[in-house]
Amino acid sequence: MTRTRVVPVDPDAPDAAALDEAAAVLRAGGLVAFATETVYGLGADATRADAVRRIFAAKGRPPDNPLIVHAADEAMARGCARRWPPTAERLAGLWPGPLTLVVPRARSLPAEVSAGLDTVGLRVPAPAVARALIAVTGRPLAAPSANRSEHVSPTRAEHVLADLEGRVEMILDSGPTAVGIESTVVDLVGDRPRVLRPGPIDASALAKRLGRAVDEGPGGPGPARSPGQRARHYAPRAPALRVESPEELVTLGPTADDVVLLVGREDVPTPGPRHVLAGPSDAARLLYATLRDCDAARPRRIVIVMPPPTPAWRAVRDRLVRATTPG
Ligand code: TXA
Ligand code: MG
Repeated sequence: MTRTRVVPVDPDAPDAAALDEAAAVLRAGGLVAFATETVYGLGADATRADAVRRIFAAKGRPPDNPLIVHAADEAMARGCARRWPPTAERLAGLWPGPLTLVVPRARSLPAEVSAGLDTVGLRVPAPAVARALIAVTGRPLAAPSANRSEHVSPTRAEHVLADLEGRVEMILDSGPTAVGIESTVVDLVGDRPRVLRPGPIDASALAKRLGRAVDEGPGGPGPARSPGQRARHYAPRAPALRVESPEELVTLGPTADDVVLLVGREDVPTPGPRHVLAGPSDAARLLYATLRDCDAARPRRIVIVMPPPTPAWRAVRDRLVRATTPG
């Protein structure tokens, strides 16, 4: 058991003393949670196998699920790669941002960081706090989402505390995250670029940058390229089920013990509590906090009315499908 300290920091002008303290924890092999533009990450020195192993233990994360390594800038990211393909060169132009590039792993990073894979997922986050923390520490930081494995990802410091109190030395609280769902993960090792996890930057934006088509989805048979992409993930504690339309909700007949979450749909009356998330970017930003709120009401069930299956909703739909996949 570790004592967890929550340290408030100004998101635009982080206090140097707080950053120095957090960097000292990281250099000693400890864990510090910090905000990225997507979700809070559970950070450790990516170059130390012992520190990386502590992340897996704190989260209860299966050992076959690789971590994302965060760099302060493109040069630091390149230092984490054994090879920097021309596709990476191009897509790094979208950094800093919610985009993770999977490339061959440098030998300077321990195999643990990518769960034994020969590749590594790299990204440069945008927020001043995250980049300053990495720069002051002087090491790339491995950081998965700062939640217990399979649970809803954290978009506020209090979410991290709720899941990981006593398991992390420090939480830098710089307020709610701006984007709200995890980065797009794109594989650049295969013969064609492939989106392994849909996210804030969609396949068409990547294709435009690359000047070539980008595949989506898990691909054909053979070993999974992204072993961490389990069916069940981002799951609230109450049983959650999904319906595809307000009409289907009416047919289901929710009771006063059910919480209903309508995403990208017109509000409809229900006997119990109800949440509505309107457009795709608002829905992404508020999704995980809303799922936690739904849970906090201790409902019999959480019934989610899914947004339409259009490209604009792809990433949010992916998270909602995983949140409603029975364990
Ligand atoms: O927005 C984000 O990406 C957040 C913030 C903290 O940066 N991080 C995040 O990490 O979502 P995590 O651990 O919850 O998700 C990492 C996922 C893995 O489950 C896996 O699907 C994919 O990224 N991934 C990481 N390294 C990979 C690799 N070498 N090959 C294939 N997939 C990889
Ligand atoms: Mg996660």
